[in-house]
Amino acid sequence: MSGLTVGIIGMGFMGSVHARHYRDNGRVDRLLVATPVEQEQKIARERFGAEVFSDYRSMIQQGQPQAVSICTPNFDHYEIASWLMQEAPGIAILIEKPLGVNDQQVAKLTKLAAGHQSPILVGHSLRFAGAYIKGRELLRQNAIGKPCYLEARYKWFKDFSKFPAWKRDPELSGGGFLMQSGLHMLDLFVWYADSPVVEVTGHAEDLYFKDFPVEDTFFGTVRFANGVAAHLVGSSATKGFIDYGIEVYGERGAIKVESVAVPGGLDIDNHSVSLFTEESAYSPSGALVNPSAPKSDFWKDEINHFVSCVLDGTAPIVTPADAKIVMDVCFALYKSAALGGKTIRL
Ligand SMILES: NC(=O)c1ccc[n+]([C@@H]2O[C@H](COP(=O)([O-])OP(=O)(O)OC[C@H]3O[C@@H](n4cnc5c(N)ncnc54)[C@H](O)[C@@H]3O)[C@@H](O)[C@H]2O)c1
Repeated sequence: MSGLTVGIIGMGFMGSVHARHYRDNGRVDRLLVATPVEQEQKIARERFGAEVFSDYRSMIQQGQPQAVSICTPNFDHYEIASWLMQEAPGIAILIEKPLGVNDQQVAKLTKLAAGHQSPILVGHSLRFAGAYIKGRELLRQNAIGKPCYLEARYKWFKDFSKFPAWKRDPELSGGGFLMQSGLHMLDLFVWYADSPVVEVTGHAEDLYFKDFPVEDTFFGTVRFANGVAAHLVGSSATKGFIDYGIEVYGERGAIKVESVAVPGGLDIDNHSVSLFTEESAYSPSGALVNPSAPKSDFWKDEINHFVSCVLDGTAPIVTPADAKIVMDVCFALYKSAALGGKTIRL
């Protein structure tokens, strides 16, 4: 099978990223886009050579794609994904994170997904980033011994006043910093710790964007059954410096993966890995080393992986069941925050 027809639902920031990488993939020969917004239809046509529809159902029925990307606002993921899973079992689905905006949506979608006949991938993009893959590989190879503490930092000023309105509305977005940005770090915690989550505590803060009803800062602790504790320091209220990455401390050393800040923002595909270890196989002199990790374009790699899931039968790296674990942690952290930092057991 070759010459894939792919449909993209939603043509805002992330829809354009998906469109660019499908267009450049080489195995996709027809691109369809569904968006009700005329300006976005024009972009889809002119920039990406897409056939355009104003509604996703007509795109599916008339365009007959074999695969779709859901790149709509968070609140729409559930309606669109559940419709596809029930009405179009032969269509592969790439659903952007988050899987849903509340625990009922996520539970229902995970259940429907288990019966879907085609691949489903959830857009937890850091699992495609070379340096984060390398960090986890080192951990799995026992380069620092048994892990005990993870710390993720996501400090990156993002101007909420310039966001699309749905991102500032908790009903439509499901939440502020944690749901929209910190989710990537919760995903790293779950992926790195590789153990069931047992309890969480969280604190949401409005430190800078006090006029919006979603939090701009979140501090969270996640405890795993294997004894690992993980702490998130996350904020969009941090003008001036960007600090983005994860540190992993083990019995015999530590791994740090961090993304590189550049003037005006973060070089999202440029990350470095540092390793301090007492294991001589990795560092004969005991000095800090920087294991090489490929400079990856993780959104591109994610799209290429999805195409391979559809055309080659490759198993999706992030399934709805994987995403549900992360979403359960996210909802539990919000619950803890709403109860003044009460410990929530999972
Ligand atoms: N994986 C990542 O790193 C990453 C990064 C950014 C955003 N995202 C996710 O991507 C999704 C979209 O975010 P965004 O920043 O592109 O938002 P956006 O507001 O820029 O784009 C959303 C688009 O959906 C369109 N839309 C709304 N309802 C629609 C419908 N029913 N049918 C078709 N189109 C519809 C809007 O017109 C708009 O084009 C979000 O769920 C977000 O969490 C993921």
